[in-house]
Amino acid sequence: MTKPFIEITGLTKRYPAPKGGEPLTVFEDANFGIEKGEFVCIIGHSGCGKSTIMNILAGLDTPTTGGIIMGGKEIAGPSLDRGVVFQNYSLLPWLSALKNVTFGVRARHPEWTREQVVEHSQKYLKMVGLTDGAEHRKPSQLSGGMRQRVSIARAFAIQPQLLLLDEPFGALDALTRGTIQDELIRIWSATEQTVFMITHDVDEAILLSDRILLMTNGPYARVAESVVVDINRPRNRAEIIHEPAYYKIRNHLVEFLARRSKELAGQQNGRESAGAPPKTVRPGLSEAEEPERRPAGRPQLVSLAG
Ligand SMILES: Nc1ncnc2c1ncn2[C@@H]1O[C@H](COP(=O)(O)OP(=O)(O)O)[C@@H](O)[C@H]1O
Ligand SMILES: [Mg+2]
Repeated sequence: MTKPFIEITGLTKRYPAPKGGEPLTVFEDANFGIEKGEFVCIIGHSGCGKSTIMNILAGLDTPTTGGIIMGGKEIAGPSLDRGVVFQNYSLLPWLSALKNVTFGVRARHPEWTREQVVEHSQKYLKMVGLTDGAEHRKPSQLSGGMRQRVSIARAFAIQPQLLLLDEPFGALDALTRGTIQDELIRIWSATEQTVFMITHDVDEAILLSDRILLMTNGPYARVAESVVVDINRPRNRAEIIHEPAYYKIRNHLVEFLARRSKELAGQQNGRESAGAPPKTVRPGLSEAEEPERRPAGRPQLVSLAG
C-alpha cells in the first residue's frame, strides 16, 4: 500500500496536571492519513481537540507523543507549504490588510518585484471582497468578518500545498460565506492543494469535502469515523439538497454529533479500539452501488488564469 501524503501516527496530546488536579489527555494514539489533493473536513464537539490537531499540522504546537509526516518529511515547525486560517484570525495588528497579505507573499516569492507581490496580494483581497480602500486599513479598523477575510486571503495567497482552515467562515454573513466557499472550491479544483478544514456546519462539510472525519468527545477523544461524501462534483448548494445521498450523509453526521460522539467517548480509556484508524463509512451509497463506481474525486482541472 502506498503511504498517504500526510500520515498522522500515534498522535497524543496531554497537558500536565494543574496544581491539585489530574493531567488532561485531549486525545491519545490518533492514527489517520490524508491523500494528496484531498479535501477533508473534521467535525466534533467543542473541546475535543480539533484545533490542537490543526495546530500540530501547522507546526505551531507539538504532540506529547507521535508525529506527522507530510510528503515524506516530519512536520517540525511552521512552513510556507502550510497556510493557516485561525479561528481567531490572528493578523499582525500594526500592518494594513494589504501588508498582512504581502508579508507572506514576499517570503514565498523572494524573486518577485514589489509590483508583482502587490498585484498578486490584491487579487486575493479582491477575491474576498476587500477593495476600495479597505485593504489599506489596519485590523483594528476592520470588522470581525473583514478581518477573517484578510486572514483567508493571506493563507490562500501563499498557495500552500496544505491549507489548514479552523472554522474559517463562522464569522461571515451567509452571502460572503457562500462566495468564499465557491472560491475555495475553485482554487482547490485548479491546483494540487490539500485542504484540512474544521467546521461545525454539517451542510458546509458535505458541500465542500471528499471525506468528513468525526471526532468523539474528549477527554481521550478519538477520530472514530471517516465518512465518504459520495456526491459528484461540481456541487451546487441549491442542487445538492436534491441528491439522494445528501440526507443520508447529513443524518449520519447529525446522529453522530447528537448521540454517538458522547456514547463512544465513554468507551475510550484503555480499550482495544483506541489507536485504531477511523472506520470508513459511506452512508450516501445504497447497498446495490459499488463504491468504486462513485468516486467523489475532484472535477476536471480548470485554469485559474484570467
Ligand atoms: N494550554 C492548555 N492547557 C491545558 N489545556 C488546554 C490548553 N490548550 C487547550 N487545552 C484543552 O485541550 C482541549 C482541546 O482544545 P481544542 O483543540 O481547542 O478543542 P476544539 O478545537 O476541538 O474545540 C480542550 O479541553 C482545552 O481546554
Ligand atoms: Mg477549536
